[in-house]
Amino acid sequence: MQRREGLAKLTGRERYVDDLPLENFLWGMTVRSPAPRGRIAAVRFAEEVDWSQFVVVDHRDIPGPNVVALIEQDQPVLASGYVRHMHEPVLLVAHPSRDEARRAARAITVVVEPEPPVLDFRVPPRPDQIQYGPDNVFKRLKIEKGDVERALREAPVVVEGVYETGAQEHVYLETQGMIAWLEDDVLVVKGSMQCPYYVLTALKHALGRDESRVRVIQTPTGGGFGGKEEYPSTIALHAALLALKAGRPVKLIYDRPEDMAATTKRHPSQVRHRTGLTADGRLLAQDIEVLLDGGAYGTLSPVVLSRGLIHAAGPYACENVRIRGCVMFTNAVPFGAFRGFGAPQTLFACERHMDVIARTLGLDPVELRRRNLIRDGQSTATGQVIRDGTDRVAVLERALALSGYREKQRAHAAFNAAERAKRRGTGLATFYHGAGFTGGGEVGLSSRLQVAGRADGRVEVLSANIEMGQGTLTVFTQIAADRLGLATDDVVIGEADTARVPNSGPTVASRTTMVVGRLIERAADDLRRRLGLDEAARGAVVKQAIARWHQEHPGQRLLGEAVYERPPGISWDEERYQGDAYGAFAWAAYVAEVEVDLRTCVTRVIDFVAVQEVGKVVNETLARGQIQGGVVQGIGWALMEECKFKDGSMINNQLTNYLIPTADDVPPIRVAFLETPYPHGAQGAKGLGELPIDGPAPAIVNAVAAATGADPRVIPLTPEHLLELLNERAGVRQPAPMNAECGVRNAE
Ligand code: MTE
Ligand code: MOS
Repeated sequence: MQRREGLAKLTGRERYVDDLPLENFLWGMTVRSPAPRGRIAAVRFAEEVDWSQFVVVDHRDIPGPNVVALIEQDQPVLASGYVRHMHEPVLLVAHPSRDEARRAARAITVVVEPEPPVLDFRVPPRPDQIQYGPDNVFKRLKIEKGDVERALREAPVVVEGVYETGAQEHVYLETQGMIAWLEDDVLVVKGSMQCPYYVLTALKHALGRDESRVRVIQTPTGGGFGGKEEYPSTIALHAALLALKAGRPVKLIYDRPEDMAATTKRHPSQVRHRTGLTADGRLLAQDIEVLLDGGAYGTLSPVVLSRGLIHAAGPYACENVRIRGCVMFTNAVPFGAFRGFGAPQTLFACERHMDVIARTLGLDPVELRRRNLIRDGQSTATGQVIRDGTDRVAVLERALALSGYREKQRAHAAFNAAERAKRRGTGLATFYHGAGFTGGGEVGLSSRLQVAGRADGRVEVLSANIEMGQGTLTVFTQIAADRLGLATDDVVIGEADTARVPNSGPTVASRTTMVVGRLIERAADDLRRRLGLDEAARGAVVKQAIARWHQEHPGQRLLGEAVYERPPGISWDEERYQGDAYGAFAWAAYVAEVEVDLRTCVTRVIDFVAVQEVGKVVNETLARGQIQGGVVQGIGWALMEECKFKDGSMINNQLTNYLIPTADDVPPIRVAFLETPYPHGAQGAKGLGELPIDGPAPAIVNAVAAATGADPRVIPLTPEHLLELLNERAGVRQPAPMNAECGVRNAE
């Protein structure tokens, strides 16, 4: 099936929030903190401005608690008296002219009495820098299996390494934006978002309104990548506060520099491995410490840490594993959800470390992985026994075959001997990604979904899950149509409007097809049951039964329903962090081929192979697109996307100096799927949306190491950074020393 909204997007007819007609409205603007930390001493309004022409909102205009409701209730909607990061929202202004509103926002000066900020998450805070709990640790977690200390003591070989990854900006094509207005007494907020019910919760909480007086509607969303998971709640609240005070509709759209400077990014990380092995490379012990930079508020950091830790040991079998981690408070613009949700950071460390181990032991990196890849019946760090029938070695073999790995290695040896200024190499990463919420998360969400039979005989899927480019509208249509034997034209996907759709959970965690798609199947079955049809009834029979039902029940609604049920045989112990962390893992092996120019130190990825087992592929074109897009995003994160920070905020907040890959930087990306149907996912599917961001960075950096002999441990591996490495005799720029006092060690 072709992408449902494809033509509208291709021809420019799709209407994003900024394109929607709105009458008699005001433009909203945000006045932000000019400093990373301190008391607000004064707010000065320039005298030459006629302020009676403007609507101005500050924290005193918030009817309920001044907090953006999320995991920790720590982030204010608008700062009141104190700021904790640059660009923290302090006031809002609105005016019918966007230019006037912008000028007015600039004519307001927030005066901050500076206090010492924490700007490096790797350095232990001084007493005068403590701002969160006793030690600036947002969240600590530990996963333990076996006896790591003993295993490390007894291991014939121990290899250590410290690895770092940088922040990453989402660069969704459509920047953040919301519109808000009052309709009778109902506050309506529309905009670009992944999670309508998160926004609804935040509005209800801070505005003190119940469900009957707030309504949230998602508009076509030009990419999210996690960046529209938590932040839209803040901007929705801002638009709403202005609209309530003005008594007129308000439109709040960030331009690119504001979006890049003020919204979340991927968490920077530092990861340390101490690995015990036999001389022939079998894993005996993995001791892993993870530090994440959380920035100034908690956002989703605790769950990002959790996913990061669960993936930190890689797709390998090891009897003794200890993974400890912390998210640190800093006075940086808060970091948040980004595709992969902590796993790309820890998997970069794990997979780069595998190559460091291979080099240390004089082993072939392929062989090292082949020996340790988890087999059915073996367990992960949380003790989750894997028995999904996937042959993970076959995934690896397929990637080697498809990339011509061995032939390339021989060709590179010849190339590198002959060329003076260029070096080529290949690199490998084997990895996995758990789909759906972690641990008991899906049970906690207890998602609900409806399939309605309409009077015209068509069916409508009612869910809160949204399209952001990854294919929800198309895949949902396919799943509903297949289940009921209908043509795709007979399926309508309802708008994600909280007044009309049940809470089927957020569009995150690669859960939409696997988890929510399965609810569509079950709700479709329920619809058939309500019509008195048996399971085999399909197509015209179903359509006629729906039409007949409406004739017999005029004016009533015909709804099939489903509520999430935990798949049998999985359980999770939140206290001990043990058990089945995910219903299913997808498995992958990626191979990158690079060419490094020794004069410019520019690395080009010249070929890329991505092989993955993702359960059943529901729509091959879209699935391929997900993999290719993820690989491109991974190339950017590995080689060029560098957030330059000053006072905890991004200063290269423009696309002229924050470089993302263009078509010219992207090699052929050859994608292959192995399919082992997952019985509890729609049509046998597992989640695949985030998986492809995990593998490219380590594969690429391993390839650079193979090509040049350098030993990079920090990304992005920009030309400047590689130049430094190649100039140093040892070839290793070690990351900053791991800070044991940050609390990782205290996790006991
Ligand atoms: N693909 C596109 N085109 N646009 C996006 O915003 N977000 C990613 C991924 N792929 C994204 C994307 C992220 S962060 C997630 S969690 C998944 O899609 C969510 O969608 P899924 O549940 O349908 O996989
Ligand atoms: Mo994706 S980071 O879970 O929105």
